[in-house]
Amino acid sequence: MSEMIQSNILEISYLIAAVTFILGLKMLSQPKTARKGNFIAAIGMTLAILTTILFHKQNGEGISNLGWIGGGIVVGSIIGYVMARKVKMTAMPQMVSFFNGMGGACAALISLNEFAHYTSGGEVTMMNGEVLVMLLGLLIGSVSFAGSIIAYGKLEGKIKDFVFPMQHIVNLSILAIIIAIGAYMMINNLADPVWIYLIFGLALIYGILFVLPIGGADMPVVISLLNSFTGMAAAFGGFLYGNYVMLTGGILVGSAGTILTVLMCKAMNRSLTNVLIGAFSSKGGPAAAGQGDLSVREVTPTDVAILCAYANKVVIVPGYGLAVAQAQHAVHEFEKILEGKGVDVKYAIHPVAGRMPGHMNVLLAEADVPYDKLVEMDDINPQMPNTDVVLVIGANDVVNPAAENDPASPIYGMPIIQAYKAKNCIILKRSMRPGYAGIENPLFFMPKTSMLFGDARDSIQKLIEELKAL
Ligand code: TAP
Repeated sequence: MSEMIQSNILEISYLIAAVTFILGLKMLSQPKTARKGNFIAAIGMTLAILTTILFHKQNGEGISNLGWIGGGIVVGSIIGYVMARKVKMTAMPQMVSFFNGMGGACAALISLNEFAHYTSGGEVTMMNGEVLVMLLGLLIGSVSFAGSIIAYGKLEGKIKDFVFPMQHIVNLSILAIIIAIGAYMMINNLADPVWIYLIFGLALIYGILFVLPIGGADMPVVISLLNSFTGMAAAFGGFLYGNYVMLTGGILVGSAGTILTVLMCKAMNRSLTNVLIGAFSSKGGPAAAGQGDLSVREVTPTDVAILCAYANKVVIVPGYGLAVAQAQHAVHEFEKILEGKGVDVKYAIHPVAGRMPGHMNVLLAEADVPYDKLVEMDDINPQMPNTDVVLVIGANDVVNPAAENDPASPIYGMPIIQAYKAKNCIILKRSMRPGYAGIENPLFFMPKTSMLFGDARDSIQKLIEELKAL
């Protein structure tokens, strides 16, 4: 096959792959089509990899290091397959963060590798524009890698938020030093690898220090921001290689991550600068402390079942605990029984409930809860005063009224699901432990609130039995 035909096949396969990425991304926006979308994009990626291996030519030569490439694909596929099979649904956010970090690391490694070409034979052979792209890929990829690993540790509960004196000045200084070294390299056409490794090391330190202090309820913003960083870093890699499929993939991930970051900021009612400068960390501690003297009211499953069965309208607020308890199927059954008794049941979805964007939507879709039963926060809040019973299942921060009425609270300003406005509020959780932001919730101490303690799935099973017996 002539080189020209091979090159055409390669270009066409890249075009097909790019189209599959766009289609896949579009399909990922609906739980119904998400699985198929993921599969289609994966086929596109496989096609792009295979055709690159078969048809890519440089100076008339094909790819020579097939052993390394094959080995990498086999080892990576096995690790990815085993991790994906073994991971518990509740550990999914951590895994996504980890994989995001791997994407950033790949982009950084591309830049490090390209530096060898930049300096082939000790001579600088790249244009300054290419060097800039290489350095940006290295910087953003390394920050994304280091930051994602810290985010992984935080979501796993292994790394605590860490605030240190003058952290912003330290962070900004590191960033300034990185930029200065990059500019110095470009102006003086420096070929010594020590400079690029210095930037790599500093970027890793910056990534760690940048994510370490941000915590509590701000994590969703950081996670989506890191996601967009990885996309951007991959896009820079695509630029460097003149590889359109990599460029398209990177731009899609980068822009999707950026849109998600904007949405998450909006959901938390915070500006990005505010998040990065950081005020919402759990360092605020139990801001609503002082509730300690107040007591909570406990109820039995029988009381809750009767209350719900005779209600006109019940709103379920799912949160991270629903995922921990894997209670999505039970809650759907409970909802169907109630609907059978003529009760109007809806789910109130907070944009940052759970531990990853869309967590509750995915969880409830898994249990085949009809999509029209899921109501966004802004639409459900006006309905709260007419709601007879709100069942808060494993949610905490997203219903914390301190966000609205306690300026001293670390989550003050974050929009919440206004469960406190309903006529009755039932909280299903195991203890009085706080949620992710680490702060106490005054909702639990309100006179209209009752606690049904226990694992959410066990409690809902008991409610189902009680409802059936009524
Ligand atoms: P949280 O505030 O984290 O509260 C979850 C509650 O579930 C806890 O209070 C816990 O209390 C309860 N729980 C845990 N396991 C349970 C079980 N088996 N049965 C019953 N209850 C159980 O959750 P949320 O309201 O969904 O808020 C999400 C928080 O995570 C926000 O602060 C958000 O900013 C943060 N965050 C979100 C994301 C994304 S992107 N969504 C990412 C990172 C962080 P007990 O231990 O007493 O049972």
